[in-house]
Amino acid sequence: RGSAGLVPLCLHVLAIAFALEVSVGKTNTVMALNNSNVLLPCIFTTCIGFQDLDFTWYFNLTEMVGCSLIYHGKIKSKASEPILVERNPRVEFVGSTTGKDNNISIVLKNVEFSDAGRYTCHVKNPKEKKAQHNATIILTVVQESKLVEADNTVTLIIVGIVGGLIGLLILFMLVKRVVLFIIKKTQDGKKECLVSSSGNDNTENGLAGSKAEQKAPPKA
Ligand SMILES: *[C@@H]1O[C@H](CO)[C@@H](O)[C@H](O)[C@H]1NC(C)=O
Ligand SMILES: *[C@@H]1O[C@H](CO)[C@@H](O)[C@H](O)[C@H]1NC(C)=O
Ligand SMILES: *[C@@H]1O[C@H](CO)[C@@H](O)[C@H](O)[C@H]1NC(C)=O
Ligand SMILES: *[C@@H]1O[C@H](CO)[C@@H](O)[C@H](O)[C@H]1NC(C)=O
Repeated sequence: RGSAGLVPLCLHVLAIAFALEVSVGKTNTVMALNNSNVLLPCIFTTCIGFQDLDFTWYFNLTEMVGCSLIYHGKIKSKASEPILVERNPRVEFVGSTTGKDNNISIVLKNVEFSDAGRYTCHVKNPKEKKAQHNATIILTVVQESKLVEADNTVTLIIVGIVGGLIGLLILFMLVKRVVLFIIKKTQDGKKECLVSSSGNDNTENGLAGSKAEQKAPPKA
């Protein structure tokens, strides 16, 4: 395991670029989770078409040292899909060259931390005299647990908020029930009082009335 997974297979002498265009897309960086599979995109365009085109993917390519080939394919013509020449067992070709784009993307499987670095997609088209070009994408590998942790935190926050809201709702409903119960009880009580004391109503009113009358005079 480790960097030994991407064994250097060759040392290519790479010349100057001409009409051929190679691109890894708008962003030249890609992030992958430890142990996941990552797409390394690359397409090429050529004005005059191609024949027996060579494409190679390198890991951490430098002028002379650390030249590490991870995929090498050949394409006979626009009408055919690439033929595998050699590859790292963890690298899989996922592109297609018979469609609109000449897609020569690869997938790197079971990404390890030692896989972080520069991935160079290099194309050589014999039809365009010595035309060759390259594009590089930078891979960063992040620890799964960190994303999972962040995920868990977010989940916990969401669960907390939802749980809190449900709790509040239940509490509110309980309080409402209790309040309604109390109101009902007091109203029932009042009714009972009114009903049971209906006989005394007159005397009470009379008393209250007489009391009010009694209270009024001192001021006058
Ligand atoms: C990377 O992933 C593997 C498999 O999921 C795990 O065993 C290993 O501990 C991870 N490495 C780090 C540094 O998290
Ligand atoms: C190239 O092919 C891969 C795999 O099918 C796809 O995910 C990617 O989007 C393609 N890239 C372009 C630029 O078409
Ligand atoms: C690849 O290059 C990156 C910097 O571009 C470096 O951090 C990393 O250690 C290199 N990996 C290997 C296996 O040489
Ligand atoms: C990659 O392409 C650039 C031009 O875009 C060129 O200057 C450079 O020499 C090329 N490198 C390799 C290794 O082919």
